[in-house]
Amino acid sequence: MNLEIEKKKIFKKGAEASLYYGKWFNKDVIFKYRISKKYRLDIIDKKIRNSRTLNEARALIKIKNYGINVPCVYEIDPEESIITMDYIPGEKLKDLISILDIQKLEDYFKKVGIFIGILHQNGHIHGDITTSNILITPNKEVFLIDFGLHDYSDNIEDKSVDIHLLKRVLISSHGDYYKICFKAFLEGYRDCYNESSIEECESIILNVDVIETRGRYIKKEERL
Ligand SMILES: Nc1ncnc2c1ncn2[C@@H]1O[C@H](COP(=O)(O)OP(=O)(O)O)[C@@H](O)[C@H]1O
Ligand SMILES: [Mg+2]
Repeated sequence: MNLEIEKKKIFKKGAEASLYYGKWFNKDVIFKYRISKKYRLDIIDKKIRNSRTLNEARALIKIKNYGINVPCVYEIDPEESIITMDYIPGEKLKDLISILDIQKLEDYFKKVGIFIGILHQNGHIHGDITTSNILITPNKEVFLIDFGLHDYSDNIEDKSVDIHLLKRVLISSHGDYYKICFKAFLEGYRDCYNESSIEECESIILNVDVIETRGRYIKKEERL
């Protein structure tokens, strides 16, 4: 591991990365360091970490141009699998859902819907839209993070799968608030599409239910 990073205090441990808080030219930053997975062959492990680091950094840089709130990237070290990016103060949306008032909850999810709509219309798939990958700042801004699984696609199916993950997370982790949150998300998502693209938008949303049914069908099959 990079020596500079080793000296810093661990800030968060995610599924595939350790996050360290620090300063970069006087700016508050996060060093996202992708950790090696012992179950992978060394050479493959290095390749995966290297490519996900580059993939995430490139996505963050591109997506910032659409006016979507994502952390600004300052440095990329693919060799060491480290991205230096803006530290976003605040909380994960996951930890706020049950304590927010309904109006605020709707506002946040509508904003998330708008951001994802803009991403999809520009051929970007987030790849991991969960309530842990959405941050809310003290001045009530919504930030999207964690683009390690980001991909490019203009495919309806890929966009539906992206939304389907959020739907599953809402149902399984925030069941009581699922309806309010998902409705507000779809409202924001639809708002991004204009007359000429609204048909595609509706196909994407309809296909989320098709994926859901397919899932159930498979589960039922597995039980037999
Ligand atoms: N730029 C950031 N500013 C503040 N906190 C962050 C930032 N990036 C990540 N985090 C925190 O670290 C956690 C894990 O980071 P994430 O990028 O989601 O890694 P993983 O790929 O391991 O899930 C996030 O859920 C969030 O709480
Ligand atoms: Mg994450």
